[in-house]
Amino acid sequence: MLILGIESSCDDTAAAVLQGDTVLANILTSQDVIHTKFGGVVPELASRQHLQAVHPVVEKALSEAGTTLDKIDLIAATQGPGLIGSLLVGFSYAKALSMVSKTPMIGVDHMAGHILSIFLSKNPPVFPYISLIVSGGTSAIYLAESFTKFSCLGRTRDDAAGEAFDKVAKLLGLPYPGGPHVSKMAEAGDPDYIKFPRSWLEPDSLDFSFSGLKTSVLNYVNQQKVKNQKISAPDICASFEKAVVEVLVNKTILAAEKYNIPSIAIGGGVSANSKLRELFHHECTLADKVFYAPELNYCTDNAAMIALAGGHIYKKNGSIPLDHDVYSRSSLG
Ligand code: KG4
Repeated sequence: MLILGIESSCDDTAAAVLQGDTVLANILTSQDVIHTKFGGVVPELASRQHLQAVHPVVEKALSEAGTTLDKIDLIAATQGPGLIGSLLVGFSYAKALSMVSKTPMIGVDHMAGHILSIFLSKNPPVFPYISLIVSGGTSAIYLAESFTKFSCLGRTRDDAAGEAFDKVAKLLGLPYPGGPHVSKMAEAGDPDYIKFPRSWLEPDSLDFSFSGLKTSVLNYVNQQKVKNQKISAPDICASFEKAVVEVLVNKTILAAEKYNIPSIAIGGGVSANSKLRELFHHECTLADKVFYAPELNYCTDNAAMIALAGGHIYKKNGSIPLDHDVYSRSSLG
């Protein structure tokens, strides 16, 4: 089955063509240069940019895959969660393609795409597995039981991990999106220089909370300024990164132990973080769990994961009628 995937939930316009679970083309245009001067995504600018990008990105994906719209068997587009204006562009475009080409269409939950992105890698896990999804909009732990069955075991009660990275970056004057910049700067810092708090919440809780950590970084910077003392951005980045990564790894392994699941996979933009991957490798070995991490180009938003998820949903549930609408909150929790 030849599947065209379209993703436009936030600030990346992406299209991919898959033959079953095999990627033939995976195209993405980023809007980072537009949003970086505002220190975050401006929804109105994002949707306008998607309007310009969606057609050329889809054309490029089809041409790189050596195919044409009339040969596509299924169109899969992100239906939610995300910015409504952004989602509407990709989803409406997909509906129009479906209508003119009489190709079945499926709406895909963005979180399902991230959970299944591990199947774009060479050695995917077998079900069931625990999936940690950490991005700019979400931090959540899921139990993935099949290609279409996921239960949310814990989620952030306030900021997402990526959002915390982005806000700390902004505080330190680093560009948007901040995660990769904080991580790069952290390489020159001491992760034990500042003891930022770890928010474990109630014993056994699989929820996250990163807003207190973000405030601690802000307070630390302000106190140093008041005391006229130097601020070491590398030490702040390294100490902050360690505080985030420790909580993410610890709680994910706790979930795997609690539900007696042998495999752990990660996904979402923050899953590209090298310290997160290192600690997962180390702790999973100690806990006798097998760790799976997607290739870097499948961590951040992409359309290959949407096409893959769409193919599996279609096999189970069939296509959707074209009066379906986008949504801002995921039913997956
Ligand atoms: O999944 P994603 O592309 O989509 C959105 O949520 O929009 O994730 C983007 C997030 C941003 O917050 C970015 O700062 C973060 O992922 N990120 C990282 C790294 N690469 C991207 N955070 C920490 N370390 C990284 N290497």
